[in-house]
Amino acid sequence: MENFFKKTQGRCFGTFNLKGEQLALSFKHALETGYNFFDTAQWYENEFDLGEAIKKTGIKRSDILITTKVHPDNYKEELFINSVHKSLKDLNTDYVDVLLLHWPDKSGDNSLSLDLLQQTHDKGLAKFIGVSNYNIAMLNEAISKLTVKPITNQIEFHPLIDQSKILNFAKSKNIDLSAYCSIARGKILEISTLNNIAIKHNISIAQVAQHWAYRKGVIVNSMSTKLNNINDNFNILNFELSIEEMEQISNLNSENYRIVTRERMNDKEPPMGKCVPDWD
Ligand SMILES: NC(=O)c1ccc[n+]([C@@H]2O[C@H](COP(=O)([O-])OP(=O)(O)OC[C@H]3O[C@@H](n4cnc5c(N)ncnc54)[C@H](OP(=O)(O)O)[C@@H]3O)[C@@H](O)[C@H]2O)c1
Repeated sequence: MENFFKKTQGRCFGTFNLKGEQLALSFKHALETGYNFFDTAQWYENEFDLGEAIKKTGIKRSDILITTKVHPDNYKEELFINSVHKSLKDLNTDYVDVLLLHWPDKSGDNSLSLDLLQQTHDKGLAKFIGVSNYNIAMLNEAISKLTVKPITNQIEFHPLIDQSKILNFAKSKNIDLSAYCSIARGKILEISTLNNIAIKHNISIAQVAQHWAYRKGVIVNSMSTKLNNINDNFNILNFELSIEEMEQISNLNSENYRIVTRERMNDKEPPMGKCVPDWD
């Protein structure tokens, strides 16, 4: 979906853990830096704050793109569409650009949530629909069940995790993946291979990792509260890594470092481990 990738500039400002004034300030910085694509979720409990932050800047709704995600607890006939209306009200908009199922259904059966997702698209509540945290089999099921192509599968994607199987599958279906935790919540800053490449190009380690993901055709989500970091995270195209450097970075996936695991999801209240699929 080359056009969508281009429209988003291949970069998205995430808002997980941001609330209130901090969200407003980070949103303003991100907008001024050049981001036009913003990611939230019902789970983050900040859709209202994001709506307020957008209002405050006076930016036209049509000049930005917004993703939100439906919480798995809302995958029920009587809750799903109403929850999306509530998201839209909080975001102060009558549509989102992208609506995702945040996680697979706890029951392991995704047919109902995919059907309800399709209905939001048919009603014009979402321009594009897609999924998050789906494995290959589930993504394949989404492709066959939805009447429109899923715009993305948002998954954990950074140099320390091997997502090559699902990336190749998505590419074969002409679907762009979206990366979350693209700087592995700071873990990549400890990796000497990345540091050496960063020093050589006079850029930051975060820029190395995000340039690498962008070059793989993945839309890069990252979040920061700091102006310097927001700048770095957006400016990932004014240098070019060599093919050898790209390979060195890809080889770091043997670290097999996954942040969002079943155990971690079970630590949440209520425990959500059952949503976590068997990863490819
Ligand atoms: N679909 C899903 O299930 C899912 C799961 C997780 C996240 N997401 C989405 O993806 C977005 C990004 O993921 P994330 O926020 O979890 O992780 P992330 O972007 O990997 O890491 C964010 C953390 O890294 C720091 N950071 C950001 N830029 C930096 C830089 N250039 N140099 C050094 N440190 C930097 C930030 O701290 P400072 O504020 O100090 O810069 C923040 O604490 C989220 O905000 C959310 O929108 C989706």
